[in-house]
Amino acid sequence: MNTTISLKAKKQAGEKISCLTVYDASFAEVLEAAGVDLFLVGDSLGMVVQGQETTLPVALDEMIYHAAAVRRGAANSFIVVDLPFMSYSTPELALQSAGEVMKKSGANMVKLEGGSEMLEAVELLSSRGIPVCAHLGLLPQSVHKLGGYRVQGKTEESGLKLLEDAVAMEGAGADMLVLECVPAELAKRISQNVEMPVIGIGAGVDCDGQVLVLYDMLNISKGKRPKFSKNFLEGKSSISDAISAYVKAVKSKEFPALEHSF
Ligand code: KIV
Repeated sequence: MNTTISLKAKKQAGEKISCLTVYDASFAEVLEAAGVDLFLVGDSLGMVVQGQETTLPVALDEMIYHAAAVRRGAANSFIVVDLPFMSYSTPELALQSAGEVMKKSGANMVKLEGGSEMLEAVELLSSRGIPVCAHLGLLPQSVHKLGGYRVQGKTEESGLKLLEDAVAMEGAGADMLVLECVPAELAKRISQNVEMPVIGIGAGVDCDGQVLVLYDMLNISKGKRPKFSKNFLEGKSSISDAISAYVKAVKSKEFPALEHSF
């Protein structure tokens, strides 16, 4: 089973980390057999499983329900679980929500969205022994504030702010970072400036690892597939083969290509 230490060692050794979202026991079993390094029970389940328009309606109990199912399907995998919208709006609430996730689901780490405003919460969780994955760049829980799902960090000023936030998150105790929809050059710079693994989605090939929404890479999400995703089921005869192809493409740096990057 991977740990925060073995994942950091992969970064140091230059081995890319493969990550996929997963929401149930059956898929978790397939991902574990295919050798996926890191499992993310993302609140994207609100959109791809529940059929909601955004991730905002997802409840903490629903995250715990899905994460516990994933744990039952994959006893030996490192599982990161999203804290849903408004379940960490104060450091104390973050501690209570993260504690519940860790106790009831068997997760290894929680993920929360946001920059400098989340430092106190990250410090508190980390000091109580709860590993934290920060999430910077496009923050789906802030979609209404951002005015849509847009690439972030395109200006010198906003790029610098993301770099500073990443360094500060690590200083506060974060053990991992998800970087979503930022220019590839900026993601490279951020990855080089922190020791924690940086897992990109729409952030170019130079992150330390890659994550995709499982249903996007299997081409079963409703609507248009995002530019940064790829249909790995195309030309494959099983879901298991598609997932193995993804792991191989991430490890060999074939994915993401320029066409999937900003
Ligand atoms: O919820 C999710 O699936 C995520 C990924 C987009 C990284 O946070």
